[in-house]
Amino acid sequence: MRGFGVFSAALVALSTIRDALAFNAPSDVPTWCGKPYMSTNQALDPGGQFVFPTVQSKPMLYVTVAPRYTIFLENDVFGSFIVGASISHIFGQPYNNVSYALPGGRDGSPFTTLHFKIYSEETRSLLVASSVPVNSTGNLFEFPLLSFIPRWEPYQVSFHGSSPDGQQSFTATTQIYVLPSRSYGSAVKIDNLFGGLYVQNALNHWRGWYPVFPNGYYADGSYVTPSNMSLVNLDTYVAQGFNTINIVPSGVGPDQSYPTGQLEQYWDRMDELNLLNIYDMRFSFQNATQVNDQVQLWKNRTSLLMWYTADEPDGWAYPLNSTSLAYNQLKSLDPYHPVSLVLNCQNFYYQEYASGADIIFEDAYPVAINATWSIPWDTPCNLTYGDCGCDNCIGSLTDVSDRLDDIQTYQANLPGQGMKPTWAVLQAFGDQDYWKSIPSPAEVENMMMLSINHDAKGITYWIYPSTEDVNIGSGALGNVLKTEPALDFLFGANAIKTLQVQGEPLVDASAWIVGSEMMVGVVSEEYVNYDSLVTITLPEAAISIAQVLYGNSSWTLKGNQLSKTGLQGLEVSILILDVQHGH
Ligand SMILES: *[C@@H]1O[C@H](CO)[C@@H](O)[C@H](O)[C@H]1NC(C)=O
Ligand SMILES: *[C@@H]1O[C@H](CO)[C@@H](O)[C@H](O)[C@H]1NC(C)=O
Ligand SMILES: *[C@@H]1O[C@H](CO)[C@@H](O)[C@H](O)[C@H]1NC(C)=O
Ligand SMILES: *[C@@H]1O[C@H](CO)[C@@H](O)[C@H](O)[C@H]1NC(C)=O
Ligand SMILES: *[C@@H]1O[C@H](CO)[C@@H](O)[C@H](O)[C@H]1NC(C)=O
Ligand SMILES: *[C@@H]1O[C@H](CO)[C@@H](O)[C@H](O)[C@H]1NC(C)=O
Ligand SMILES: *[C@@H]1O[C@H](CO)[C@@H](O)[C@H](O)[C@H]1NC(C)=O
Ligand SMILES: *[C@@H]1O[C@H](CO)[C@@H](O)[C@H](O)[C@H]1NC(C)=O
Ligand SMILES: *[C@@H]1O[C@H](CO)[C@@H](O)[C@H](O)[C@H]1NC(C)=O
Repeated sequence: MRGFGVFSAALVALSTIRDALAFNAPSDVPTWCGKPYMSTNQALDPGGQFVFPTVQSKPMLYVTVAPRYTIFLENDVFGSFIVGASISHIFGQPYNNVSYALPGGRDGSPFTTLHFKIYSEETRSLLVASSVPVNSTGNLFEFPLLSFIPRWEPYQVSFHGSSPDGQQSFTATTQIYVLPSRSYGSAVKIDNLFGGLYVQNALNHWRGWYPVFPNGYYADGSYVTPSNMSLVNLDTYVAQGFNTINIVPSGVGPDQSYPTGQLEQYWDRMDELNLLNIYDMRFSFQNATQVNDQVQLWKNRTSLLMWYTADEPDGWAYPLNSTSLAYNQLKSLDPYHPVSLVLNCQNFYYQEYASGADIIFEDAYPVAINATWSIPWDTPCNLTYGDCGCDNCIGSLTDVSDRLDDIQTYQANLPGQGMKPTWAVLQAFGDQDYWKSIPSPAEVENMMMLSINHDAKGITYWIYPSTEDVNIGSGALGNVLKTEPALDFLFGANAIKTLQVQGEPLVDASAWIVGSEMMVGVVSEEYVNYDSLVTITLPEAAISIAQVLYGNSSWTLKGNQLSKTGLQGLEVSILILDVQHGH
């Protein structure tokens, strides 16, 4: 969220921070997402657009190995790997669909099983020897952690795969963290398969891990942590149902962070409440001394969830290496916590900026904007010019889900990298600059559901306090998402997106299948009520509607068809169905 009002300190910093050499605009031309936006400047190609890999005509075998979790602790006892062997036309090594029974033989059979071994490079120990079907993904293999001496540096791991005849070989590498067990502070891991966050801290006495679906705001520090010490607003915030918070630093202090003594007292309360903190270093992450000092101060806190570095580095056009430099520093100072950042642009140096985080947030704010004409700057907005408050948006709530899709697509098209969890930062403000009004609670809930449907694994909002109705609405739907059974689906599967919907074009639906149950999320983008019959085609047949977790309950089910007559404007539904298995 760029600098207006209390955050305008950032605007001043812009001209000194921008790295003129790497960007197309001259350094004296103010830009956002690389585009000039003042009427006195000319349009130009911002550059930095994502370069998609070339599609090859021949299929390749793309082998991947990744730790199931970003970190393992010594007392986890077992680690696990995710092995993929997909047939791909963009990445991989040459693949010939044949394997011979005898060396030099002629009678080949199809190469349908990949045999592999996974080694620790440093100890040369064999961790896994097994096989996976060719063109499968998400295969899990456990291994004992016993052979690793717990330490803060990662261990290199290598994967050697081959066809049954040994004639074709495939390699991959990864690294794993095996960290000393904890008895203070917190440890937070990301599930590299489904994107969920798992925490251990004082709340569970550092025994095992508990899932946390984050639902919380960026908060105005002068409101939730006022200098005259009052816990009232912070307590209310937690009572409204939020489990995470990002207290936005004002950037005015000497080290551009927080008043230490004051934050200590509030953080004591956050520890008591287990309100998980996303520690924001937006003004200081480019200064290694300040990063070091802040990590030393706060890394032992039991309610530390993660570090947050760059706030819209792409919008500001911070140096392209700034996020990864901070990331590497943070990993060496504190490997127990993920690093996150938010990207504001639709397509501006994704690879470079995203390389500096484990979790990527998007913050497309589409409500009450003019997507084609800049309100504050009185210019057009398009791919080469202008700033309309939501980069390359159309001014629809679906800008949020489209942005999540964009980011996930970019990430999937980077070689040798797994997916990174994506989170949404939703608009809960307005009545200023680009945004003519504050979203209604229905609009906010709608964007929450669109985010979930498009695989957001956490939700945050700019900025607390919003209106009382929005605060309460986002807390209420968030309470559903962050508790079982919804949580089991969100963290136990990836969404099957964009289900076919008949009867009404502006309906978005997704499904998650875990065991013998399916969760379905439905969200209408119509602002008005309508009466037509809406039918969603499910990815598989279901037997019955087990539970309506949120919204109207008059849905009917027949096989793989889920129907309802009429939807209210912006209606949101979450259902759980029993599915048939064993065919
Ligand atoms: C390999 O060939 C077999 C037999 O023709 C076929 O069933 C299989 O789908 C092929 N696999 C790939 C990845 O092309
Ligand atoms: C590989 O799997 C994908 C995804 O399931 C499927 O779309 C594709 O047809 C498969 N390719 C081959 C050659 O079997
Ligand atoms: C702190 O100041 C705010 C407004 O400035 C006021 O509403 C609140 O009552 C004060 N709290 C205490 C504990 O003095
Ligand atoms: C980095 O921060 C330290 C401590 O606040 C300060 O002394 C130093 O001048 C800063 N460096 C730069 C390059 O701004
Ligand atoms: C964090 O905890 C460790 C282990 O108890 C201790 O060595 C270190 O001094 C602590 N750091 C702070 C800043 O409390
Ligand atoms: C990061 O990039 C800046 C500007 O492009 C450059 O001056 C600096 O040397 C780079 N830093 C490192 C450590 O590579
Ligand atoms: C955007 O602004 C232009 C120019 O003032 C105006 O013609 C257009 O109707 C506006 N669109 C919206 C959606 O407000
Ligand atoms: C964007 O708008 C500017 C100003 O009207 C214009 O000069 C430029 O050609 C437009 N760019 C595109 C890609 O249409
Ligand atoms: C639920 O939806 C049905 C059908 O669209 C409608 O008739 C009914 O009024 C809705 N119920 C509530 C409580 O909104």
